[in-house]
Amino acid sequence: MTKILCMGAGLVGGPTMAMIARKNPAVQVTVVDINRKRIDAWNSDHLPIYEPGLDEVVKEARGRNLFFSTDVEQGIREADIIFVSVNTPTKTFGHGAGCAADLQYWEKCARQILEISTSDKIVVEKSTLPVRTAAAMERILHSGKKGVRFEVLSNPEFLAEGTAIADLDKPDRILIGGHPTPEGQRAVRKLVELYGAWVPKEKILTTNLWSSELSKLTANAFLAQRVSSINSISALCEATDADIGEVARAIGTDSRIGPKFLKASVGFGGSCFKKDILNLVYLCEGYGLHEVAEYWRQVVRMNEYQERRFVARMLKEMFNTIAGKRIALFGFAFKADTGDTRESPAILVARELLEENADLVITDPQALEHARLDLADGIDRVTFESDPYQAARGAHAVALLTEWREYRTLDYQRIFDGMVQPAFLFDGRNHLDHAKLHAIGFNVYSIGKAALKHF
Ligand code: NAD
Ligand code: UGA
Repeated sequence: MTKILCMGAGLVGGPTMAMIARKNPAVQVTVVDINRKRIDAWNSDHLPIYEPGLDEVVKEARGRNLFFSTDVEQGIREADIIFVSVNTPTKTFGHGAGCAADLQYWEKCARQILEISTSDKIVVEKSTLPVRTAAAMERILHSGKKGVRFEVLSNPEFLAEGTAIADLDKPDRILIGGHPTPEGQRAVRKLVELYGAWVPKEKILTTNLWSSELSKLTANAFLAQRVSSINSISALCEATDADIGEVARAIGTDSRIGPKFLKASVGFGGSCFKKDILNLVYLCEGYGLHEVAEYWRQVVRMNEYQERRFVARMLKEMFNTIAGKRIALFGFAFKADTGDTRESPAILVARELLEENADLVITDPQALEHARLDLADGIDRVTFESDPYQAARGAHAVALLTEWREYRTLDYQRIFDGMVQPAFLFDGRNHLDHAKLHAIGFNVYSIGKAALKHF
């Protein structure tokens, strides 16, 4: 029986391995983590992350051929294939701080694999890593004296949060990078076989190691770039009465451009877009490609501009003062269908509003726990409320920051009636029926569209 180990039971490791185990009942999959609380949660009825459909996949395979454990050493010893899916955040210290990837967790894994292993293994980079990391990994793994052979592959993950299970079940593609040597290609074939259990062969792309590593960073950079591009045009729409929805539709019907990822918003968030672009920027700088670095850096700058622009508009429209005013934030997660708030635009929006001495009430169906931690330092001016009606009661403004489906069907007449007048609504996701809200009496501001006001 093939034995797989995954180091890192996070948003990628947990769901990805659960899917592999579900589709390969004859393969034993163990997911380990140094965080005991996380592993306990994976073994309980309350999984550590919220992902639609995840519970069923985990329940089907857990205890059969899917196991969650803190025994990293035993896992390494027994495994034939080891996926490394640990976090690779932006460095916060030393050389490259604020830009380069912090590779300490990844390197610890490589060293531990080397130390514990007594049999040959395929080591798979699942984490997102700078291009040529596999070379460093190989250098560490091949420094041993036990005669154990390691073959390193790159197999980046493209799932998006909130749709992780659907993405894993029907991926656009699976990418596997390996060396062109016979051993390298044998390892690649093993991984192809694993995914081939449910992914059509033509969707499994094989490349050299470096292309695979670089494709992951590039995919995220292109996706984020589209959001920044449409957001940049949203600013021009607001200045000219063009409508960003109409512009997006008009350009998106060009089959060369395509309709996806053209939704203007308060900004992109999530744990990876910013981190991966900055990682790309740092790499380019390292190779002396300053113009290329500058080109991609601008995608991140544009995003910060968009987040700040949103708050600046709130301030300006609310008579240039929001001190002491109650403002309800609808949504704190970085996108709908997740409880994740990492790099959520809501964090910067909340912080800027607090700087203006606003009183904030935050509501979100899944992310309140994380929101509390994100705003721990401003806690005396922030209230957390699970009921959006309560959150909006007595507020001067509602700012919608996450496109939760349930926010569409709220009784906005009831919300309006409970608010201080004139009541403002800022839709940071162009998610609501603006004409209807305006008819109720709200002054409505959205992204890249003309304001609908009553004065
Ligand atoms: P995460 O922070 O949710 O999980 C990483 C886990 O690794 C943590 O639970 C941590 O305790 C564990 N860990 C750290 N060192 C360890 C060690 N030595 N042994 C065992 N466990 C260890 O991170 P994530 O969101 O799952 O992301 C993991 C990687 O995948 C990152 O490189 C990220 O860029 C990439 N990625 C993330 C997403 C996403 O949607 N979150 C999508 C695609 C790729
Ligand atoms: C993104 C990529 O889509 C995944 O392919 C990738 O695997 C992942 O990053 C990663 O490497 O971590 P994710 O961040 O989970 O996935 O979510 P997205 O759906 O890409 O959304 C990112 C942000 O962009 C969200 O804040 C979202 O609201 C925003 N967005 C997205 C827009 O503002 N407009 C759009 O049109 C699309």
